[in-house]
Amino acid sequence: MAERDDFEEPDDLGGMEDLSDLDAMDLDEGLTLFPYVRMRRLRRTEAMRRLVRETRVSVDHLIYPLFVVEDSGVRQEIASLPGCYHWSPDRIGEEAQAVAGLGIPAVLLFGIPRDKDAFGSSASDPGGVVPKAIRAIKEAAPELLVVTDVCLCEYTSHGHCGIVSESGEILNDATLEVLANIAVAHADAGADVIAPSDMMDGRVAAIRQALDDVGHDDIAIMAYSAKHASAFYGPFRDAAGSAPAFGDRSTYQMDVANRREALREIMLDIEEGADIVMVKPALAFLDIIREVRNMMDLPLAAYNVSGEYAMVKAAAADWADERRLALEILTSIRRAGADIIITYHAKDAARWLKE
Ligand code: PBG
Repeated sequence: MAERDDFEEPDDLGGMEDLSDLDAMDLDEGLTLFPYVRMRRLRRTEAMRRLVRETRVSVDHLIYPLFVVEDSGVRQEIASLPGCYHWSPDRIGEEAQAVAGLGIPAVLLFGIPRDKDAFGSSASDPGGVVPKAIRAIKEAAPELLVVTDVCLCEYTSHGHCGIVSESGEILNDATLEVLANIAVAHADAGADVIAPSDMMDGRVAAIRQALDDVGHDDIAIMAYSAKHASAFYGPFRDAAGSAPAFGDRSTYQMDVANRREALREIMLDIEEGADIVMVKPALAFLDIIREVRNMMDLPLAAYNVSGEYAMVKAAAADWADERRLALEILTSIRRAGADIIITYHAKDAARWLKE
């Protein structure tokens, strides 16, 4: 070891206002903090790195999406989401037990009905796929939280998230009542959290009121608040059969270019009574996650969406380590400020984090 006696503490920062001036310093003057400061000291061993690690990913933060289809006996791998399955209500209890057994606290349910019509009528059917699945999950794994996605796109023949007028416009206010009815049907069946993903204005307030009116004042709302019109939903739309038959979602979902508008969406949903707010997608929107985190105190969820998962799967087939990629992404989303991460990696991550 070198003698330390000859080291002299600099008595100030060498004229720097703060460390951001470091780049501008004339290194020849010998006023750098090196060799007194050596960042590598705290990276020497795994124990040291554990001690100073700033962000942790735990299974406690994860929500695993589940897709439920009609019929019985179905456990069918989803081509666009390898490792994830379509389940029929009679078999989804198996998956619920597996998820709960891994320590994952919650699932997010998506329904894929047999019957679709222009109004998405099957979505609010108390005997529909999602209510059936909720009851099956509650029976198989009572401790597992059930969050349900509330939207019309999987249930409408046109694939839009709202009611469509004759001229092809997505009607905001007419959609609110339908959404509220779906939320009540899910809560009646035992859902713990309602997650509206349609992006109609005023839907959080409409759902809160409808739930309260029938005595579900203890059921929480996790709002897809800043949901952008993203190309990263492609694999999901394949899995859910929910791609719009005409046009796109850009008159209701947010422009991916907008950050200030995302903050307004978040504030509005908080005012309407959201208990948890969400930024979606996650990976290309980490700046927004951080900004929302800094702005408010509610629990913040981020949706690590299907296209983000598919990219990892594609890269891992040949060029990268899936486990390291996925854990790095989940860590980044937590570091950006998300409390909760909805992710298709949840089951794998739960196993990796245990090792
Ligand atoms: C329904 C909905 C979508 C997703 C969640 N809820 C698709 C969409 O808006 O088109 C996307 C989830 C994912 O890509 O993983 N509106």
